[in-house]
Amino acid sequence: MARTFRGQALNTTKLLNATNPGAIEEAAAIICRGGLVAFPTETVYGLGADACNPLAVARVFEVKERPRMDPIIVHVADPESAPLYGRFPEQAAALMCRFWPGPLTLVVPKTDVVPPIVTAGLDTVAIRMPAHPAALALIRAAGRAIAAPSANVFGHVSPTEAHHVAAQLSNRIELILDGGRCAVGVESTVLSLTESVPRILRTGGVPPEALREVLGALAWSTGTQDRPEAPGQLMRHYATRTPLEILEEGDLRAKPRPGERVGLLAWVPPKEAERYAAVEVLSPSGDLREAAANLFAALHRLDSLLLERLVAHPVPEQGLGIAIMDRLRRCSAR
Ligand code: TXA
Ligand code: MG
Repeated sequence: MARTFRGQALNTTKLLNATNPGAIEEAAAIICRGGLVAFPTETVYGLGADACNPLAVARVFEVKERPRMDPIIVHVADPESAPLYGRFPEQAAALMCRFWPGPLTLVVPKTDVVPPIVTAGLDTVAIRMPAHPAALALIRAAGRAIAAPSANVFGHVSPTEAHHVAAQLSNRIELILDGGRCAVGVESTVLSLTESVPRILRTGGVPPEALREVLGALAWSTGTQDRPEAPGQLMRHYATRTPLEILEEGDLRAKPRPGERVGLLAWVPPKEAERYAAVEVLSPSGDLREAAANLFAALHRLDSLLLERLVAHPVPEQGLGIAIMDRLRRCSAR
């Protein structure tokens, strides 16, 4: 809990480089005594708590201002420990073999070990094995699974650098482990294995094309805005404070009015850069992986400039571009 002094909040969040000697052990000790640690994964930073400590998980909901109906992903350090938390169907083995460690979360029936608060009362649980060495070292040192949503205030842009976490959660959590920039940059793909045909609940770091190479059939979520299957599907999510709209080719809104301060999120270097108060280029060479890795950091930077509005160029909707466009559409929904 935040401490106060004469009504002033004291900054009690410690920031440690994950490669410092003793940093992982210190973080693990905090997790084991029910505290909260933000840690790097290959996708985005996570806000971690002991997955089997309901009070610690309750604090994750509190500090994130996250609705209690939104379940949290359980992170494991190896495929062998996953069956302790979930009941995996046969087809899971091939997926784990190909994509773990990595940005694929599997939703399966939960075991009794997982407290209901983690799954928001659902009888299914989302499990993944992250690929960042600091995340794996932390889970191993804690000797337990770590429940972690993205380390941002609910609905806001996800953090891909330690200072993004500090800006949103300083003074609310015990420790931030700095592991540098997240290499993938968009969250994991959430895949439900609860029916005979696996279903994508959230697009993410593993593109559907890659899943299709392993799975015979693949379905898409049919969740609605009112009844999302994964609350990451809420239309307005990943939101900047500055309104953002996605431009179509030749769109007139591209032209800022005289004196208007507009920021541009461009896919590749734009022709009309000088019209804008600020420009972020997602990938100078037109590479979707690079674009995904830069997406949230670029949005954080543009949002910090207090411009009147932001516009974004669309990216090709294939591979990681599918997840990028999903995040941009949700960011632009008002
Ligand atoms: O890459 C990631 O997945 C990051 C890193 C930290 O691992 N985590 C992340 O967590 O993005 P979060 O809480 O921001 O998003 C988790 C998504 C939410 O949309 C949630 O609704 C869905 O996973 N989810 C979790 N458990 C579920 C379940 N049992 N059934 C359906 N959806 C679930
Ligand atoms: Mg999130």
